[in-house]
Amino acid sequence: MNKKVLILPGDGIGPEIVGQAKAVLSLVNEKHKLQLELDEALIGGAAIDATGQPLPEETINKAKESAAILLGAVGGPKWESLDMSIRPEKGLLGIRSSMDLFGNLRPAILYPQLASASSLKPEVVAGLDILIVRELTGGIYFGQPRGVRILENGEREGFNTYRYKESEIVRIGRVAFEMAMKRDKRVCSVDKANVLEVTELWREVMETLSKDYPEVELSHMYVDNAAMQLVRAPKQFDVIVTGNMFGDILSDAAAMLTGSIGMLPSASLNSQGQGMYEPCHGSAPDIAGQGIANPLATILSVAMMLRYSLGSSEAADDIEKAVSTVLDLGLRTPDIYAEGTEKVSTEQMGQAVLAALQN
Ligand code: IPM
Ligand code: MG
Repeated sequence: MNKKVLILPGDGIGPEIVGQAKAVLSLVNEKHKLQLELDEALIGGAAIDATGQPLPEETINKAKESAAILLGAVGGPKWESLDMSIRPEKGLLGIRSSMDLFGNLRPAILYPQLASASSLKPEVVAGLDILIVRELTGGIYFGQPRGVRILENGEREGFNTYRYKESEIVRIGRVAFEMAMKRDKRVCSVDKANVLEVTELWREVMETLSKDYPEVELSHMYVDNAAMQLVRAPKQFDVIVTGNMFGDILSDAAAMLTGSIGMLPSASLNSQGQGMYEPCHGSAPDIAGQGIANPLATILSVAMMLRYSLGSSEAADDIEKAVSTVLDLGLRTPDIYAEGTEKVSTEQMGQAVLAALQN
């Protein structure tokens, strides 16, 4: 089995949080005798600064040879004035698309220790466990034609194309149904079928696909209502499946239900079982370099990686337990801090997880 793991620290807080996650991965590599080979490469702004490109050829080649990739985050104000085609975000979208990582899993789980960190009432979020399955390599993010053109009257017009082929809907639908089979067996497909033909097709295809999964209950919801229901009564959801852009938006909302986006990992999988694992939050340039970012989302992404791409759910459980232990100890980075707990730095949080793993 391929044991290569490629690490892409990226920009902003990326290198800080990935530093802690890498230490965790190295430790479980030894402890569970996994024989993983770790390598590192450039992506995003860091890659632009070094090579002029957000996704150098070398990075793509290394990524394709790896069983799994751990990514920090990309982007920052330094590169915002660059042309869209060579911005850091293109590196991220490029690696998703060149490796065909269409299945994006974004769990939103509330740690009981953090119930008071949520902006919603504890009873609304207690026990929350949602899985958002976001299509990641299609939809309006990638649809052609796209661009900004000049109309006859000289005015500029921006345009993007929202399209999904049936086969793309089926493959992401299957991921959602399969995941639901291992959970509470409920899938809510989110669309805007009252306005957009592409999502009318999405709904129809999901309906047909559901016949292959008679045990799973399928429901449909318009995206505006889904946004409202997520903040009104989020526990009604088990698995949510949706397209690229709706999934981007709803997963940020779902993340915040848990108190902090700094806690949430994600996995992006292709059909060969390769996966890229990254925290749901971005590069947070406003706090980069201060040593205060929460490394737990990235550390939990390592756990997902061990479970989904490296076949080691024991090591994954070990890491998740260690994270729970440090929360029990009352350690909190500023994003999850509450009175009566102990405020710690990125590094102290990482060290505490390592210590918990050694016990
Ligand atoms: C995410 C991010 C990315 C996205 C950006 C950085 C391109 O917001 O992973 O959710 O929109 O997919
Ligand atoms: Mg996003």
